[in-house]
Amino acid sequence: MPDQSMPCVVGNWKMNGVIESLVEIERIARGASGLAVDIRLALPATLVALAARLGDTLMIGAQDVHQQPGGAWTGGVSAGMLRDVGARFTLVGHSERRLPQGSDDDDRIAVKLAAARVAGLSVILCVGETADDRRAGRAEQVVEQQVRRALPDGADGRWLSIAYEPRWAIGSGALPSLAEIATMHSAIGATVELLAKRGAAPVPLLYGGSVDRSNAGDILSIDSVDGLLVGKASLAAQSFLPIVRAAADRSGRHAQASDLARAGSL
Ligand code: PGA
Repeated sequence: MPDQSMPCVVGNWKMNGVIESLVEIERIARGASGLAVDIRLALPATLVALAARLGDTLMIGAQDVHQQPGGAWTGGVSAGMLRDVGARFTLVGHSERRLPQGSDDDDRIAVKLAAARVAGLSVILCVGETADDRRAGRAEQVVEQQVRRALPDGADGRWLSIAYEPRWAIGSGALPSLAEIATMHSAIGATVELLAKRGAAPVPLLYGGSVDRSNAGDILSIDSVDGLLVGKASLAAQSFLPIVRAAADRSGRHAQASDLARAGSL
């Protein structure tokens, strides 16, 4: 089970990375070692096995899984196969895999999510509205529906996190305001609460879309943001580590605040 007391910073390498990139992954692991941050890399399937052998500073995972456990699915890679070579988590429902850019609709996302869970992977469910949805004032409605449809069996932070990634913010340099992120996170939080069964652990909420060293600290200052999902800036230690350090700073501030609160209640 992921350590929920720490903020989580996830790098999504998308279709980038070759064997030579393992050097960069080691550089990230060295720079991140000892920080109180749950640091993960969602790698292309071709690198998962190799990266998983580099140690346990970084949690290695996949970017997608096939909805079936195995069989005649040419080109498919199942959750069990990824788990077998060392993946511990996967993204599901990234906007680049969803219709119309990809081929996943809400039903398939729900099946993929269940398949990942059965195989023993924890899941980062990605949700987010289009620019049109936001302009039309239906961003929250769209995202709430994506969450509800992906989780017919309920939500539990023991195996699930949710990343709010507005489609229009991914790779564009455009960002929602901090207030917009906070509002969306509370809408997601309320939906998740309705879905969660008794005894479920709180589901960590991440933000993703054009995160870099200049905005990570501000985004992490939002109370409901438990972590970040980072695309482009995760590809090099030089751009990724400052983001990880911003999360470590926040983690330090939270620890101090709870020490003070404890001292105050003595
Ligand atoms: P970006 O990508 O940080 O390059 O915008 C984020 C993502 O797609 O997960």
